[in-house]
Amino acid sequence: MPFRRLGPSGLRVPLFSVGGWLTLGGSVVGDTVKDIMRTAFENGINMFDTAEDYQKGEAELAMGRVIKELNWRRSDIVISTKIFWSHQPGTGPNDTGLSRKHIIEGTKACLERLQLDYVDVIFAHRYDITVPMEEIIRAFNYVIDQGWAFYYGTSEWPAERIEEAHHVATRLGLIAPIAEQCKHNMFHRERPEKEYASLYAKYGLGTTAFSALAGGLLTGKYNDGIPAGSRFATVDYFVGSTETNEGQALVAKVRDLSKIAEELNTTPTALALAWVARHKSTSTVILSVTSSAQLLDNLKALEVLPKLDQTVMEKIETILGNKPEDPVRHLCMCRELSTFRSLELSLALPQPTYGRPPLDVHGRQPFS
Ligand SMILES: NC(=O)c1ccc[n+]([C@@H]2O[C@H](COP(=O)([O-])OP(=O)(O)OC[C@H]3O[C@@H](n4cnc5c(N)ncnc54)[C@H](OP(=O)(O)O)[C@@H]3O)[C@@H](O)[C@H]2O)c1
Repeated sequence: MPFRRLGPSGLRVPLFSVGGWLTLGGSVVGDTVKDIMRTAFENGINMFDTAEDYQKGEAELAMGRVIKELNWRRSDIVISTKIFWSHQPGTGPNDTGLSRKHIIEGTKACLERLQLDYVDVIFAHRYDITVPMEEIIRAFNYVIDQGWAFYYGTSEWPAERIEEAHHVATRLGLIAPIAEQCKHNMFHRERPEKEYASLYAKYGLGTTAFSALAGGLLTGKYNDGIPAGSRFATVDYFVGSTETNEGQALVAKVRDLSKIAEELNTTPTALALAWVARHKSTSTVILSVTSSAQLLDNLKALEVLPKLDQTVMEKIETILGNKPEDPVRHLCMCRELSTFRSLELSLALPQPTYGRPPLDVHGRQPFS
């Protein structure tokens, strides 16, 4: 297993890691969790990713149990979790988001479920427009100072907020985020390949890429219908999405990609994973699997990586037809637009509330 530095940090992470969204403690329980994590470890994957809200805490509980049962040396593994949504009974207005209160209380609860003294990396699972950046930076630094995490990162933050985080951390003489956990796959490229381009260059930001198989679509398993028990048959968010015109167009592209995979004597799954791993800012690609067999199948991506030369990449590009605009040109455009951007403007726009009551531009909950 090749290892890469996680962004600008000294932490080395495996090119492929294993995550637990929907799977560990959810669609996968009991001994299968152990099988998957053990198979991963035996194949050089020593990094596992979870979040406080995955399966309402069950993912962390399942992972923590297996880490204990397998009796791994703590220094041999890298564990990451994410803070933002707590789904514990009694969830209140401060059980969500990035207030100092929730970052600290949420982190302590994660460690309890994982039965660990610390995680290696803690991510802010989304950006929270209602919390001052200084509060967020100070809270994550406190978490690090307490020894509850070694590093912190962001997940799906707008580039300009990551940039702000760096400025605030520098001004305060504090530690800045080292990585972004973002969606990156053949069908989802704008943010990781264009929006973040300046951050890779300026801060050495690294990504822990997720949904590299677009939920399984890029495996080719949906080319001829929906297999029973699969994610697109069982998870509401995915059910029906291959039947729309847009979904059908994507399936058609996967069929074409499958032909390239065949020419390379590999699978569409391995091709799709190697394609994300090949990106220069990818530190690790987080895999999700429902069996050890899937995991082993996915690791064939390591054999495909050296085959992704210019000619193959161009063939893939022709099928995808979604190459993001040149980041340098994009950056010039942004600079021109930035004079129109302000926090007030972004506060005035409708913002996601993540289940909390919406606040007005002054941060007040309107009377009902
Ligand atoms: N930070 C965030 O906001 C965020 C968001 C999403 C995910 N993540 C992280 O990234 C991880 C991966 O994300 P993802 O679950 O969306 O990944 P994905 O790789 O796009 O989809 C994984 C799913 O595809 C199917 N699959 C995987 N390998 C296969 C194979 N060889 N053959 C057939 N089917 C296969 C499995 O589903 P079925 O077997 O059920 O069909 C599996 O659960 C998560 O576990 C989590 O740690 C983070």
